Amino acid sequence: MHKFELDTPTLLIDFDKAERNIARMQEMADSAGVKLRPHTKTHKTPYLAHWQLRAGSRGITVAKLGEAEVMNAAGIDDILIAFPLQGAAKMERLLHLAERARLRVSLDSMKVAQDISDAAARRGFKIPFYVEVDPGLHRVGLPPREPTRDFVRQATKLPGIEFIGLLTHAGQAYAAKTLEEVAVVGKQEGALMVETAEMLRADGIAVREVSVGSTPTARFAAQVQGVTEIRPGTYVFYDTMQVHKFACGWDDCAQTVLLTVVAKHPDRLILDGGSKTLSSDRGPGGAATFGTVVGFAHLEIYALSEEHAHVRVTGNGPLPDIGAKVQVIPNHACAVMNLHERFVATRGDEVLGAFEIAARGKLQ
Ligand SMILES: Cc1ncc(COP(=O)(O)O)c(C=O)c1O
Repeated sequence: MHKFELDTPTLLIDFDKAERNIARMQEMADSAGVKLRPHTKTHKTPYLAHWQLRAGSRGITVAKLGEAEVMNAAGIDDILIAFPLQGAAKMERLLHLAERARLRVSLDSMKVAQDISDAAARRGFKIPFYVEVDPGLHRVGLPPREPTRDFVRQATKLPGIEFIGLLTHAGQAYAAKTLEEVAVVGKQEGALMVETAEMLRADGIAVREVSVGSTPTARFAAQVQGVTEIRPGTYVFYDTMQVHKFACGWDDCAQTVLLTVVAKHPDRLILDGGSKTLSSDRGPGGAATFGTVVGFAHLEIYALSEEHAHVRVTGNGPLPDIGAKVQVIPNHACAVMNLHERFVATRGDEVLGAFEIAARGKLQ
């Protein structure tokens, strides 16, 4: 079956491209001598996590306990939950999962450290943890160098957790305007972490892991001597944002949404998918553009209703008619996966079949 015979909206994943993206990132990690622990919040699909592991990834990263539970139920047992966990319900689930999987967590406060340690110590466990360092994103993470060292000195005294290393995510790379700027952020991300790790070692604290990485910075941070692990996620599909951050080309974008033209005006078209299908994530630099229409450079999605994409005609060229199908490369692949129950896999134009996005909606 040809992909354009599918009903719309349909989320499509081009397996040829995803496979190539997975292989290339793995090759890059291997040649830099670092482990790849992909962030699976992008695809939320155990089938694709297994692809990454088969290609050579060493464990996976998740943001949510619910994602970890889904991945573990699918047979994956080396999981980093890269999020500060809080609350009795999460402690209970964490310990339940720790009985089945080799878990590691990240944290940046004594409150989280103490709570996980208390829960683990009651069951006789020691949960491995990374300390998260703020590379300039100002989300979570302690300032590098002394503040991190002082925190680790305290946290290593707790009985139910075991310090294994430092972790960071230089999400500020998404504000970069040139490839050079991305490279600077990536190199600084690695260098700051290695410097902080050395400071800890000078203090007699063993640091096994120095874990870094976003999709745009991975190839730069991986080159920094002393980095042990990278955790890109979006690279599996890439998206409009990644093209603008120089991480890939348009032809690498494996995720598209198939939509139908349902209305046509001289200067505008309407497609049958809006914010519930493409997500409301804005374009590069916060631009009011909501994805890239494949093969129509003179079409721009300038607004979304819940179920409508509003498309402006910005230049000359043929326009698709009502009833025609078009593919849109979303701005942000990860947000889109969370909106859909399943995707349809293709190779080229040929449909392979539907796959459940088992961890979509697992927000707790
Ligand atoms: C802690 C952490 N690690 C890794 C990643 C993966 O980065 P990217 O989405 O750029 O692939 C993210 C993304 O949000 C993250 O928050």
